[in-house]
Amino acid sequence: MTSHAVLDDMSHFWMPFTANRQFKMAPRLFESAKGMYYWTSDGQQILDACAGLWCINAGHCRDEIISAVSTAMAKLDYAPTVQFGHPLAFEAASKVARLMPEGLNRIFFTNSGSEAVDTALKIALAYHRARGEGQRTCFIGRDGSYHGAGFGGMSVGGIGANRKAFSGSLLPRINHMPTIHNLEHNAFSRGQPAWGAHLADELERLIAVNDPSTIAAVIVDPTAGTVLVPPQGYLQRLREITAKHGILLIFDEVITGFGRLGKATASEFFGVTPDLLTMAKAINSGAIPMGGVAAHQRIYDTIVDGTEPEEVELFHGYTYSAHPTAAAAAIAALNIYHNEKLFDRAALLAPIFEDAVHALRDVPYVKDIRNIGLCAAIELEPRPNGEGNRAKEAFAKCFEAGVLIRQGGNILAFAPPLIIDEAQIGQIFETVRKVLVDIK
Ligand SMILES: Cc1ncc(COP(=O)(O)O)c(C=O)c1O
Repeated sequence: MTSHAVLDDMSHFWMPFTANRQFKMAPRLFESAKGMYYWTSDGQQILDACAGLWCINAGHCRDEIISAVSTAMAKLDYAPTVQFGHPLAFEAASKVARLMPEGLNRIFFTNSGSEAVDTALKIALAYHRARGEGQRTCFIGRDGSYHGAGFGGMSVGGIGANRKAFSGSLLPRINHMPTIHNLEHNAFSRGQPAWGAHLADELERLIAVNDPSTIAAVIVDPTAGTVLVPPQGYLQRLREITAKHGILLIFDEVITGFGRLGKATASEFFGVTPDLLTMAKAINSGAIPMGGVAAHQRIYDTIVDGTEPEEVELFHGYTYSAHPTAAAAAIAALNIYHNEKLFDRAALLAPIFEDAVHALRDVPYVKDIRNIGLCAAIELEPRPNGEGNRAKEAFAKCFEAGVLIRQGGNILAFAPPLIIDEAQIGQIFETVRKVLVDIK
């Protein structure tokens, strides 16, 4: 097919977060996937160094998930969870709850991470209202964080490009803490940087300026998609400050949930328990759209006990909350994680992954390398004529060389399926090295 014909055929799909015209002139199309690999429509094998988009923690096209989804689809294609239910929804919720931090045992299902974030924000508002503090309507996020594409997540999110076109219509009364990105102090940190716990103290200032009794919740991603790792003591400090002022702490674990750091959650890994935790992606190893919020039982009880038993307690939900196929995929994926001890595997491979990525420190234009668990980022110096230009070129060349990585701005990110082996880790970073040394 000529590129022109491809463009004609491809014109109807308005692609998300993509330069549509550029992509359609030179498309990268996947045809199939298995285990650690994709195959493109022209037959090239691609090693998946980003678990699709931080989703496929159990590896691609797992037979157990395929069979669970097919069985669910054949038996009960759809059932509402509004005023009805089906067993898979309750089973999936129980299984997820068992992996959550102590007390966060009430699970609200959504269809994506964005919906999970908006749901968590709404639960926070409903909770304060139920306890007679309905004036708590202010949220605090952080510069540089991504919390999805919904109006709530976009508002608490701190990525200028995502907010710009919509800036007149974001949620009111949002504040942002400063970013934890600081190369002057933290470049080439392995794991949690030693410098930066004090950045959490800025929260005290924002709280004082706004009056603590107006603030509903603080939301942070305990490790961002750009692999910003919280400095030692930072999350603990956020927890202390929020608890002191009766403010809820939300961890957005859409990318960290289900083993990315070598534990079920980043909360468990860092030893800090939030009040609400959002999840998606690896909840069912990316097989069917699904997300969720784990709420502390105290929050659930406060909202639920605040109404008469025959009343709807929370006016919120989705047609496809806990869709049978998504729930079946979640149960199957969580079984795989358990049976194959994939979270432990991630923890065991983490030091090997760390050494492999940090070995690229001597490569020209590498400004920073950071990592935690089974994820890492390389930050490149851009050319003077445009942000992200070297990284974009590296991303495209890695793909041509058979390795799928993620690029955003000047950053190359790596978050492979947890089934990866040492040789494949070697292949990823050898390919990246070869590509980077050729980029001028
Ligand atoms: C931390 C975080 N929150 C929320 C989202 C949004 O998830 P989704 O794209 O499933 O809506 C993402 C997506 O990458 C994310 O990384």
